[in-house]
Amino acid sequence: MPEISPELLSSVIHPRQSDTHKGDYGRVLLIGGSDQYGGAIIMAAEAAINSGSGLVCVATHSINLGALHARLPEAMFIDWRDRNLGAMIGQVDVIVCGPGLGQSDQAIKLLQLLKVNLTGEQTVILDASALDLIAKNKELMPTRSKLIIMTPHQMEWQRLSQLRIPFQTDSANLAALRALVPGSKGVLVLKSNHTKVFDTDGNIYTNPLGNPGMATGGTGDTLAGIIGGFCAQFGGKVNSVLAAVYIHSWAGDLIGQDHYVVRPTQISALLPRLMKKVA
Ligand code: APR
Ligand code: MG
Repeated sequence: MPEISPELLSSVIHPRQSDTHKGDYGRVLLIGGSDQYGGAIIMAAEAAINSGSGLVCVATHSINLGALHARLPEAMFIDWRDRNLGAMIGQVDVIVCGPGLGQSDQAIKLLQLLKVNLTGEQTVILDASALDLIAKNKELMPTRSKLIIMTPHQMEWQRLSQLRIPFQTDSANLAALRALVPGSKGVLVLKSNHTKVFDTDGNIYTNPLGNPGMATGGTGDTLAGIIGGFCAQFGGKVNSVLAAVYIHSWAGDLIGQDHYVVRPTQISALLPRLMKKVA
């Protein structure tokens, strides 16, 4: 089974051409952050910005506006009840849905809105509570997208796939992934201390990096944001996902060399320098 390699990372991240502008680096819309879990969507948005997306917009509960703008002046904001959100979904390149979304009726409405407004051109990343809501109601799974990427940890995958952790074998995971996204191209990033990436073509990759200092709330939200940033900029394809998984753990390992705990925001802060190094 192939390991994700540094060579893969440098094949994805390339030097920027001088005659380019922000439109060339993709638009990411992040949907999440309830009145209780604002930090998750802020960390995901910070990761999308630091991993190089041209434009980042956050659709979240209005209570998060002040914190979001104070922390991330680069991000745009839309109240997640705004009736223009549907149109925006159809206009962006990548949507990250789930960090801190919660499981309220409003969260269900947002998944419905996402599903009906996708045009087939967007890459969709589903994380955290978006996956738990889909686990309870499979009708909420988006059907019109260029690529669907799911990023569960093992318990979220158990709820979504109905595979209990001891039964999460490679072949069972592949079958469950294909069953969840019939007719679409999909990627499963099954997160653990040995994260594996599966695609609906049957490829399986392992991530050789990462450390237990990364076992802290927000590390997953940060990964979802990096995947969003990389898909916006380098294309909605499996290699962009693999590069994101790798750089997230590489940053975590570098920080972990002299830090007992790796804060997710430290990972985001390191991304631009690591990208420059391999470009
Ligand atoms: N070794 C290597 N990598 C690790 C380790 C470890 N021991 N522990 C965690 N990681 C990495 C995982 O591979 C993954 O990329 O950290 C990330 C953790 O992601 P999540 O489990 O999704 O955690 P996170 O989202 O940050 O925090 C909990 O997830 O289930 C949701 O809604 C829930 O908000 C909650 C959130
Ligand atoms: Mg998570």
